[in-house]
Order: sequence, then C-alpha cells, then structure tokens
Amino acid sequence: MVNGNIISKVDAIIHPLKLNHEDYLKDGHLLNNELNRGLKSTKDSSVKMYLTYVRSLPNQKERGVYLALDLGGTNIRVVLIEFLPNKINVIDQQCHEIPATLFFSSGSQLFDFIAENVIQFAIKNKLAGVRVALGFTFSFPSVQHGLAEATLVAWTKNFMCPGVVGYDVVQLLKQSLKRKMDRSIPYIDVVAIINDTTGTLIYGSLKDSNCKIGLIVGTGSNCCYVEQLQNIDKWPYNYSEPNQVIINCECGAFGDNGVLDCLATSWDRTIDYESLNITKQIHEKIIAGMYLPELLRRIMLTLVEKGLLFNGLAPIELFVPYSIKTKFMSLIDLDDGRKDLTNTKEALKKIFKYFKCNETDLRIIFSINNTITRRSAYFVATALWTLAKRIDQVNVSVAYDGSLICKHPHYKRWVKEKVNEFAQNEGIEKVIGFVEAPDGSIYGAAIVAAICYREKRPKFIKKNGKVYEITRF
Ligand code: GLC
Repeated sequence: MVNGNIISKVDAIIHPLKLNHEDYLKDGHLLNNELNRGLKSTKDSSVKMYLTYVRSLPNQKERGVYLALDLGGTNIRVVLIEFLPNKINVIDQQCHEIPATLFFSSGSQLFDFIAENVIQFAIKNKLAGVRVALGFTFSFPSVQHGLAEATLVAWTKNFMCPGVVGYDVVQLLKQSLKRKMDRSIPYIDVVAIINDTTGTLIYGSLKDSNCKIGLIVGTGSNCCYVEQLQNIDKWPYNYSEPNQVIINCECGAFGDNGVLDCLATSWDRTIDYESLNITKQIHEKIIAGMYLPELLRRIMLTLVEKGLLFNGLAPIELFVPYSIKTKFMSLIDLDDGRKDLTNTKEALKKIFKYFKCNETDLRIIFSINNTITRRSAYFVATALWTLAKRIDQVNVSVAYDGSLICKHPHYKRWVKEKVNEFAQNEGIEKVIGFVEAPDGSIYGAAIVAAICYREKRPKFIKKNGKVYEITRF
C-alpha cells in the first residue's frame, strides 16, 4: 500500500526540481546571451565558445591510415583507422582503464602513461619505420591557437593532475612520446587535437550532411556547432572559404557566473560546494552522468533525515559520496510508464546490500530518479534548440554520443519531445534530426587528421635525419 500522505510531502520537497516550460525558456534565453558574449570575447562569458580551427567537414575523399587517441573519461582509447573509398575500416583498437592514482598524479606521469600505451599499440600493429599521423581527442576545456595546439584551461570531471593547466597538451603528449620512442619504433606525429563533441559532429556529418551540432551526454556534457565566420567577432584569421568553423561551446560551464542560480536547487548547490571544481561546470553538474546519481543519493538522504524514506533509517551505502552508478538510474527509469516497479526494486537491491523498502519507498525513489533525469534531458534540449536557432537551415541534425544519452531507455525521447515543444510553441520552421555517432569522439580525431592530408599527402617524411614512409597500407 502506498502512503499518499508521505508521497505528497515528498512531492512538495522535490517540487523545485520540476521546472516548467517558462523556466526552460528562461534558461534558453540566458544561454543565448552567453553564446553571443562568448563569440565576442572568451573572457567575458561563462560559455567560452572555443575556436576549434576545424573548418572543413569530411567529404568522403579522405584516404590513408591514421591513429586516433581519446582521453576524456575513465579510459584511454587508441584506434588505428584506415580510410577507404566509401568505407572506414577499424584495423585495431585498444582501451585501457586509467589507474585511479593517475587522476591526481603529475601531468608528465599521465602523459607518459598515455604515450606508453600508444607506442605499444603502434608496435603491436607493426608500424615501426612508419610515420603515422595521430588525431588526439582531449575532452577538457582548452584554448586552441591552431589545429595542433591546445592550452588546458581547467580540468573538469574527475581529473586534477598538476602541471597541465596553462600548458599546451599537444606538446606534453609529444614530449612524452619522444621520451618513450627509440630508433626501432614508429614516428607518431600529433597533427590535430579536438574535443569529443567536435569528433562526434564530424563523425555524424559523414552519415548525415545536415549534422551541424555535436552533443555529448556521458560522464560530462557539452555541445559544439558549426558557426559562420562573420558571426564570430573574435575570429583572428582571414575569412577565406570554408567560411565556417566548429565552435566548442564548453556549455558545461554555463552558469559559472551565477546566471543559473535561480533555476538550481539546494541539492545542486551542495554537489557544487563539495566538488573538486567548486563554482565551475554548473550546467554540467545539473546534466551529466557523473553527477546525476550523486544528486539522487543526496535527495534520498534528505528524505531519510525527514523520516519520509526507509522509515528514517539510511542504508550504509547512502552515506558514501558518488557510490551510485549511472547505469542504475537507467534501470530505474525502465519503469517509466509502467505500474509495477520491478526494475526500481532490482536496482535498489544492487545499490544497497541490506535494505528494507516498502512500496512507498519504491514510488519515491522512482519519482526522484525520473524527475532529475528528465530535468537533465530538458536542459540538454534547451541548449540544442538554442543552438539550432542560430543555424540558418530548416533541417538541422544533432550528432550525439555519451553513455547517458545512448544507454538510458528514454533520455533521447525526452530530449526530442522537449525540442519539438520548443519548435511548436515558437512556430519556427525547423526540423531537428538526431544521429547516433557511437565512438564518434575517437573516429572524429582520425577523420580530422585525414582531412589535414586530404589534398596534399607526401609519401615520405624526413625527421631527425631519418626518412619515414608515410604509410604502407
Ligand atoms: C566536460 C569537458 C568538455 C567535454 C565534456 C564531455 O564538460 O570540459 O570538454 O566535451 O566534458 O566529455
């Protein structure tokens, strides 16, 4: 039997998480202001709108063999990719979990670990004597001054390695590669660095030429889009063709100047105060898979303290920060639209070793979980709609990747529904398509490396007195 009295008390407590359409309109309006400010000057906006220097999208004329490296979450991935006419062939790939200690170790230890993995992978693929171009996906806020130059502005997500902020990460990677490379091994040349959103957009645009927005909703969250040069006051170069560039919005930082405070709740504020990067990545902390389960945990704890959940007795795991995994939120949301809450029960059994829970508890946990995940999806939809309106096309597609948006059973649908609601209410003729770009972040890095060589591809390269063959595939 569900206790209606408790349910209504809980509903009143979690009410601030249930934003209405007006609130999302306000969010979109505030975001649009920040986007405009960021296009004028990076320092005057919380949304930095970093220039990526990626101006050309793939045109199927890319050829050759490239390495791609991805650093952005809990793993590093290396892929060897071959571009053939009408086909991208993954020759080999490798994924390594980053040892937990490295998240806080020095930058050189982190980059040495990465370089070691890349070199071992190249040796395994018999690339000795070959000069191979590498595209590097580095998914942290970085200022670029060229395609292969990126200064880290701040660590986000769970990284905090000293000695990297303020440095060019391409140089750090090159130095580590140099330290590790000896005569018998390949010459790995880092030719491009991109953000995961950019990689996703580039990969998506191979599937659908209307792709003009890249979206990641996983451990972190962020968007990029294609902007016309004439709209970018801070564009420092010429206006030659292609007259466009991909902008890495870094919209996870939207709200870092306080503009989102009116829409955030006390739980959002506590997550922020107790995070590694206080007052930073406010939008990301409301949306991303790294923070949503922590939000769920904190809300449950509040309700236990008020005697409204688990009869006021908290299971021990509820006291451990970041102990709940995002996959359990997806499991709970499988019960969306269903009467029985078997998946919620199943998830709770996995989260808490010993717990006693009645039907009212199940209803409450399902409701909190569903509310915060929908809120995340609606914030994402608002950002997408705000970006889509800047693109002068009726059909705009969004290439997306990331564990939350790809693995959650309803997240994508909620994003689409909210975007459609915006379109209908505003009467704007715009059709937003969605293209899944699995592993786009890493494939995109290889594609960008290939785009660099689309027109001009030397057969040999001389380096330190040695001649390397560019490819023998
Ligand atoms: C964080 C990073 C951003 C990245 C996003 C998704 O927000 O700052 O660069 O794109 O996570 O991984």
